[in-house]
Amino acid sequence: MSPSSPPARPLPGHYRSAAVIGGTHGLGRALALAARDRGLRTVVYGRSAASVPDPDGLLPRSLDLCDPQSVRTAPVDVPSPAYVLWVAGAFLKKALAETTEDEVERLTRLLFSGPVLFLRRLLAEAEDPVHLITIASSSSWKRRERESLYCGLKAAQATFVRNLVPELLAAHPENRITLVNPGGLAVPDFHTGLALDFGTMMDPGEVAEIVWNIAADQRRAFTEVQILRSRAPGSEGTPEVSYGARAPQAPEEPGADATAGETASTPIRHH
Ligand SMILES: NC(=O)c1ccc[n+]([C@@H]2O[C@H](COP(=O)([O-])OP(=O)(O)OC[C@H]3O[C@@H](n4cnc5c(N)ncnc54)[C@H](OP(=O)(O)O)[C@@H]3O)[C@@H](O)[C@H]2O)c1
Repeated sequence: MSPSSPPARPLPGHYRSAAVIGGTHGLGRALALAARDRGLRTVVYGRSAASVPDPDGLLPRSLDLCDPQSVRTAPVDVPSPAYVLWVAGAFLKKALAETTEDEVERLTRLLFSGPVLFLRRLLAEAEDPVHLITIASSSSWKRRERESLYCGLKAAQATFVRNLVPELLAAHPENRITLVNPGGLAVPDFHTGLALDFGTMMDPGEVAEIVWNIAADQRRAFTEVQILRSRAPGSEGTPEVSYGARAPQAPEEPGADATAGETASTPIRHH
């Protein structure tokens, strides 16, 4: 936190820790640092956990979501009650016909089956209440080109989490779930090889603060939120927050791809 930043808003209740799956880099690291600033004991999971040069008070743990053995054995003990954050991911822009079998398997493990299996262990270990915060993507509902696998897995993540709500509530009435669909973030490592203007994309630290403030204010069991970047001249890349799920964009819709305004679609549900 920079000296000029406002102090982190306190979180409600008596949460003691945060476990961030994919907390070593990018948005996950920003979410983890913001959790630490809120006084939470913060565990960060990732392949590079062992080599994080300056853990900054975070507790790194090695986890490779593409390796079933690692998913089965990485430690899941965290002080309860805990926030659990599902953030890990990687991007793939490739037509399906050009995608190898290995790429399909690895991305499916990273974006879906690995986290589902790891969450199964984490949630079983954590004592209630638990607050699950999931970072899906606006790609779960937007029309994209040459991104069918990435978008499909992000939509699966979002649908999975929505349908986890009843059973988490049955387990404990104070359990909470937050589903976040961000638009483009200024994380060059995520967009490797793509020539993008990161000056028009959202700052991960700013988005992390928004996510924690939404979590702090959440009273309902489930909240779904879109955090999309403004394309308005003069405020490009400013995060714009709206609540509720979005209807999937029509695949043949002209001009609805990434070149169109991220905040142009109509939300189908507000609360
Ligand atoms: N960047 C965007 O524009 C954008 C937009 C919308 C949504 N998102 C979503 O936001 C999330 C974070 O993305 P980011 O931009 O912050 O990307 P990032 O900087 O590349 O971070 C990805 C995180 O996932 C972890 N990870 C990658 N492969 C892993 C594996 N096999 N096992 C365990 N952890 C692994 C990485 O840790 P290690 O390298 O240590 O393994 C890292 O902590 C992703 O789910 C992404 O889909 C991103």
